Amino acid sequence: MGWLEGEVALVTGAGSGLGRALVDRFVAEGANVVAVDRSADRVAEVEAAHSGAVTGVVGDVRSGQDNQRSVAVCVEAFGKLDCYIANAGLFDYGAGVVDTDMEQLDRGFDEIFAVNVKGYLLGVKAAVAALQQSGGSVLLTASMSSWHAGVGGVVYTASKHAVVGLVRQLAYELAPRVRVNGVAPGFMRTDIRGPESLGLGERTPSSIPNLEQMATAVVPLNFLPQPADYTGHYVQLASRANGATTTGAVIECDAGLGVRGLGLPTG
Ligand SMILES: NC(=O)c1ccc[n+]([C@@H]2O[C@H](COP(=O)([O-])OP(=O)(O)OC[C@H]3O[C@@H](n4cnc5c(N)ncnc54)[C@H](O)[C@@H]3O)[C@@H](O)[C@H]2O)c1
Repeated sequence: MGWLEGEVALVTGAGSGLGRALVDRFVAEGANVVAVDRSADRVAEVEAAHSGAVTGVVGDVRSGQDNQRSVAVCVEAFGKLDCYIANAGLFDYGAGVVDTDMEQLDRGFDEIFAVNVKGYLLGVKAAVAALQQSGGSVLLTASMSSWHAGVGGVVYTASKHAVVGLVRQLAYELAPRVRVNGVAPGFMRTDIRGPESLGLGERTPSSIPNLEQMATAVVPLNFLPQPADYTGHYVQLASRANGATTTGAVIECDAGLGVRGLGLPTG
């Protein structure tokens, strides 16, 4: 018996990387899932992989109407919504304030915040009535960049700090009926893209060939996690039996980045 038997979840950015791993794990735990992504091919693929248990929606999280349509499809297909997972995101590949020109910074900020922050908020807004009805929960994908500088650039880092603000304010506003939490993963190899406005629309982590060695060297737990390695945190927080006492929390699961320390000699 899985931890999410009979539950219904909606995952955004469900066609690739962490979102796809979340769909696979939630189905394995007994949930039905609505998989939302802007890529029609990826939506078709994830739906086909879980025939019956997953309904796909092609949509853009930046659009209020698309978010409302995704939730409507969910309630129509599965009768309710228990867990809304906002996860679709863009990365800025470390674009810095000095080297990015004014025009690009202006447009890059709008593009990244539109997906990473506004997309999360509009998604929750669309889902809130269904979640209040089911007494469900919200999960937001944060990042090691929700606390640490120097992995992303200034815009990505600010957007992921903003996700912590969303978790805390929404947890306050939606209690006692709906729990709101975040999960803050660290390094992993996915297909994450950058904003078109920074010329990063086709950039992927494959442009960082030494990612595995870099992550292994940097994190105290000495390995590069796979997207699936992060899914257990979402399952626990989504579970009514195992997550009932937790709201307003963001789980840091970045293989120990926050306790890396300065490596000073102690003797
Ligand atoms: N990759 C990492 O190292 C890493 C680390 C920490 C946190 N994260 C976070 O994990 C989340 C998932 O990223 P990933 O690494 O799995 O990336 P990914 O690109 O592999 O998957 C993201 C999916 O979101 C979709 N998407 C992008 N913009 C969208 C939009 N406007 N509307 C609908 N769908 C859209 C893409 O088509 C893609 O299928 C993001 O929030 C990211 O910030 C990633």
